[in-house]
Amino acid sequence: MSSFICSLVLLLLAPLASCHGHHGGTVLVLGATGRTGSLLYKDLKKTSRHEVRALIRSTDKARDILGCDKCDESEGIYLGDITNVTSMIPAFEHVQTVAIATGLSGRGSPTQEVIRSIEFDGIQNAVKALAQETNIQAYGGVSNLRVVLCSSRGTTTPSSGVFGDILFYKLNAEVFLGSIGMTTSIVKPCGLSTQAGQNRTLKDREPKIYPALLSLPNGNGSNKMTRGSIRITTITIQRKADVPCKN
Ligand SMILES: NC(=O)c1ccc[n+]([C@@H]2O[C@H](COP(=O)([O-])OP(=O)(O)OC[C@H]3O[C@@H](n4cnc5c(N)ncnc54)[C@H](OP(=O)(O)O)[C@@H]3O)[C@@H](O)[C@H]2O)c1
Repeated sequence: MSSFICSLVLLLLAPLASCHGHHGGTVLVLGATGRTGSLLYKDLKKTSRHEVRALIRSTDKARDILGCDKCDESEGIYLGDITNVTSMIPAFEHVQTVAIATGLSGRGSPTQEVIRSIEFDGIQNAVKALAQETNIQAYGGVSNLRVVLCSSRGTTTPSSGVFGDILFYKLNAEVFLGSIGMTTSIVKPCGLSTQAGQNRTLKDREPKIYPALLSLPNGNGSNKMTRGSIRITTITIQRKADVPCKN
């Protein structure tokens, strides 16, 4: 999964470098000590020619998981919380692409308020932090700022309970990203595994405006992704005002 998001981030960066004469901007991974985020961060550090940063909540956890030493800004590791824009501003300085792998993942019994603050408000906060004037200037406009969101399958058919609430707010985040004028890509996985992937067929199972990616991409341990073997779906929100409601 992470290699898929990593490849997606890299694919997003490539055309920009050639079109605008930039050598590519800094990439920031949110949720970098999580299961997906840590793999993504390490993949990007290994394969990307861009500066790669991590947003974390715990230095000790980062040292353990990411193998950093000081685990501070000198190593591109920033403390911050997505529920607090101000705390994220330093991490977002000079950033062109943010890859968002934060989330609640359905653990525990979070209240609706907590779910919303992380799955929806947190995404809006990340966009606010990315839309700093210096970033807009440095990369030639808002449309050249990029957001890659690791969302989830099933957001258009949220069930009841905690998972349903998580999916509901993730869908709101997807819709929001469709309206911001930045370049946005949304990855919609099903269950993620840390095992090597297998060859599986990716299918679109959700309604047309929300194409879903439903499998792990790294076939037989290979971390390669080609445009031919995997469909990359950038969600186009066609009805911006039609924010979904849940009873
Ligand atoms: N795992 C799956 O099977 C699966 C399936 C479909 C979709 N997804 C989605 O994919 C994304 C990543 O999943 P995952 O399994 O990698 O999740 P994870 O292991 O639980 O990691 C979530 C990350 O989010 C961070 N985080 C949570 N609240 C935060 C906050 N307020 N401020 C800053 N960071 C915060 C956590 O920080 P700490 O490390 O400090 O706790 C953690 O690093 C999630 O959105 C999830 O819903 C996952």
